[in-house]
Amino acid sequence: MAVAGCTAIMCVTALLALTQPWADDGPPTDAGELPALARAHGVDLGVAVAVEPLLWDGGYQDVVEGHYTSLTAENTMKWEHVQPERGVFEWSGPDTVVHFAESHGMDLRGHTLLWHNQQPSWLSEGVWTSAELREVLREHMEALMGRYQGRIGAWDVINEPFEDGGPFLRENLWYQVLGEDYIAEALWMAHEVDPEARLYINEFNIEGGGAKSDALYALASDLLDRGVPLHGIGFQSHFVHGQVPENLAETMTRFTDLGLEVTVTELDVRIAEPVSEEAIQEQREEFRHVVAACLDVSGCRGVTVWGVGDAHSWIPEWFPGYDAATPFDEDYEPKPALWGMVDALSREPSERSAGSRRRGTGRVPGGTRRRPVR
Ligand code: G3I
Repeated sequence: MAVAGCTAIMCVTALLALTQPWADDGPPTDAGELPALARAHGVDLGVAVAVEPLLWDGGYQDVVEGHYTSLTAENTMKWEHVQPERGVFEWSGPDTVVHFAESHGMDLRGHTLLWHNQQPSWLSEGVWTSAELREVLREHMEALMGRYQGRIGAWDVINEPFEDGGPFLRENLWYQVLGEDYIAEALWMAHEVDPEARLYINEFNIEGGGAKSDALYALASDLLDRGVPLHGIGFQSHFVHGQVPENLAETMTRFTDLGLEVTVTELDVRIAEPVSEEAIQEQREEFRHVVAACLDVSGCRGVTVWGVGDAHSWIPEWFPGYDAATPFDEDYEPKPALWGMVDALSREPSERSAGSRRRGTGRVPGGTRRRPVR
């Protein structure tokens, strides 16, 4: 529609050119087209959300619905929130996120089922036999995955199974009680509860290769060889400005060559304070690089940004001295990082797009692994 001599997109672009410091090499298209661009490439562009602002904050809601195609609950689907007491389930937070996604035509990622953090004390401090813990895990999966069956397409079943620095398995509650094969057990259980869901191991510090990445690769290979229903690897991607791995696409391809899909599940790029304008500008290229890496890898399903804006990011609390990790500033104004994602998605969609979004993986649950055809 033409208004006062310009189309909506032209007007927005012209306005940005007047107001944005990066307008010189500025956005090739309107950021409001991000969802359409992502869909044209057959990938999701997701964001992690908190419940309260999703309910009450108009600026937050606008950013979410205007720029993303998929939601991950940042906290509210974690065990301590969903089942704070044994057998007592709290659905208001998860329902809010699911309802928002569905009413805006967005996809959902489920986060997360087995993790060493954010467990309720009745679980983490309980004394369990293996049979009891299996029963507790099944009850939790049946309640949570069961409630959203057919609506949440992918689940981070296993979160951060390796020690922070790797390469050894973390000796969390599940490991201690069930043994190291808890990962295979949990994946089988999740598959029984929701046979259609894509089941992930989600991990950090694996994105640039190295010992931890190798250990995860070995684990994934072993699980697939045994026919365990593992479908994807989540590359969390909590990066530091200046240290975003160049070889991200290469590392992803290593896993997709196994027949797995991959997703960038928790992208942010934290900047050391004082945050300079130069660093903010450079962050544009870092976000572009990550989204472009996903587009370069045919088995990459999408990129999720961890936090709607800098005011809602986990970074300042967890990494004092760092900030500005997301594509929107504290007032929900877009930052160059957003245009970095636009830059990446503005390229011509390739053949990967057609039909790739819902494509299955190369492995067959419970059967022999198929190597992808090249
Ligand atoms: O629940 C309390 C609430 O009762 C209290 O009123 C409030 C006061 O600050 O704190 C609430 O707890 C916060 C919790 O999130 C909300 O569930 C904690 O302070 C806060 O530290 C906690 O941080 C979350 C963190 O996981 C916990 O490990 C972050 O928001 C969340 O972004 C982060 O997410 C993880 C992913 O799940 C896995 N990968 C790493 C990523 C970053 O740690």
